[in-house]
Amino acid sequence: MSLIAPHGGKLVNRILDEKAAASARDSAKSLKQVALSLREQGDLELLAVGGFSPLTGFMGRADFERVCNEMRLADGTVWPIPVILSPEDGVTANINVGDKIALNDSRGRLLATMIVKEKYPHDKALEAKVYGTPDEKHPGVAVTSKQGNWCLAGDVDVVSPNNEPEFPEYRLTPAQTRDAFTSKGWNTVAAFQTRNPIHRSHEYLTKVALEMTDGLLIHPVVGETKSDDIPADTRMACYTTLIDRYYAKDRTMLSVLPLAMRYAGPREAVLHTLIRKNYGISHFIVGRDHAGVGTYYGTYDAQKIFDQFDLPKEIGVTILKFEHTAWCRACEAVVSSKTCPHGPEQKVAPSGTKVRDLLKAGERPPVEFSRPEIADILIKWAQSVG
Ligand code: ADX
Repeated sequence: MSLIAPHGGKLVNRILDEKAAASARDSAKSLKQVALSLREQGDLELLAVGGFSPLTGFMGRADFERVCNEMRLADGTVWPIPVILSPEDGVTANINVGDKIALNDSRGRLLATMIVKEKYPHDKALEAKVYGTPDEKHPGVAVTSKQGNWCLAGDVDVVSPNNEPEFPEYRLTPAQTRDAFTSKGWNTVAAFQTRNPIHRSHEYLTKVALEMTDGLLIHPVVGETKSDDIPADTRMACYTTLIDRYYAKDRTMLSVLPLAMRYAGPREAVLHTLIRKNYGISHFIVGRDHAGVGTYYGTYDAQKIFDQFDLPKEIGVTILKFEHTAWCRACEAVVSSKTCPHGPEQKVAPSGTKVRDLLKAGERPPVEFSRPEIADILIKWAQSVG
């Protein structure tokens, strides 16, 4: 059996070969320079390595509009969230269609070049559809509102996907995860998206998934997250510790995803699935309030959204849907309402605020919520940030 085909059929690779990269470096100094935001840098890396297949560059207007309106690219392929380049107006004012521009990281180092195929107004009201709200308190909407009023579109020619990649030994490209799955003999792989440390409920989801598949890919996002999310280096310490102590090593892989969180709930669940499809997985875990924030989305909206598609034909990944899970004192296990008859009074489910207060005070949350080894890493972090 072979692994799932990438979305759109072919794994994109936009990285220039050495000779082309050297000549791009030489000529880049004379080009108009564009500094990418952190989110755009993450997007560029995913375009470069094929994580966003079939996309080959930042979206043009027809794709942008159909994605916002219908969750499809202009050619009908399912795609739920725009991938756009929208620098500040002072920068785009001097850039026209046909220009070749240099795309740089935050320190002005070259990442890629792009010939501008289109320049079009950034329809921010339309983009709000992605988040289901125009509320600027929503972190995704807040990013849109800070972006420029114009979008630049074109294929990217990448010199360096990232000049300073974090966690390089865990930063596998889709081609590399696919090779790894094949060499391990895994035909079916479940992927777990996360932006949090793995607590007992998360661990349960991953292990139930692993009962059904050959392997498990723990695939945390390490791109830009909200300032109150736990930083990636602390989370990585949690993941490696947990895998080391509590996971079957020959069936578990850890790799990081350089995507910026959008907090777009249901639409982001679809994006997360398509990206992981490109990394070669067959099953994707979607639990409660996936990629959600605040109260913008219903608890299971991120599961229901998949009903809008012909899943086997248009997406091809099996979605593993989980109810809200928590430790039940009466069952003495992690359970959900599908598996347990007891009421909420039996559940160990401290609020996020309560957990943070405990950690700050140097106390471990209940062992039924978080394993002690993880609690200790989080206490160190919580006390260091004060
Ligand atoms: S997310 O933004 O990446 O979705 P998080 O890291 O908290 O946030 O969740 C990772 C995955 O685990 C998501 O699919 C989410 O729905 C699921 N999840 C988290 N906690 C629970 C829980 N208690 N019960 C069921 N699913 C959960």
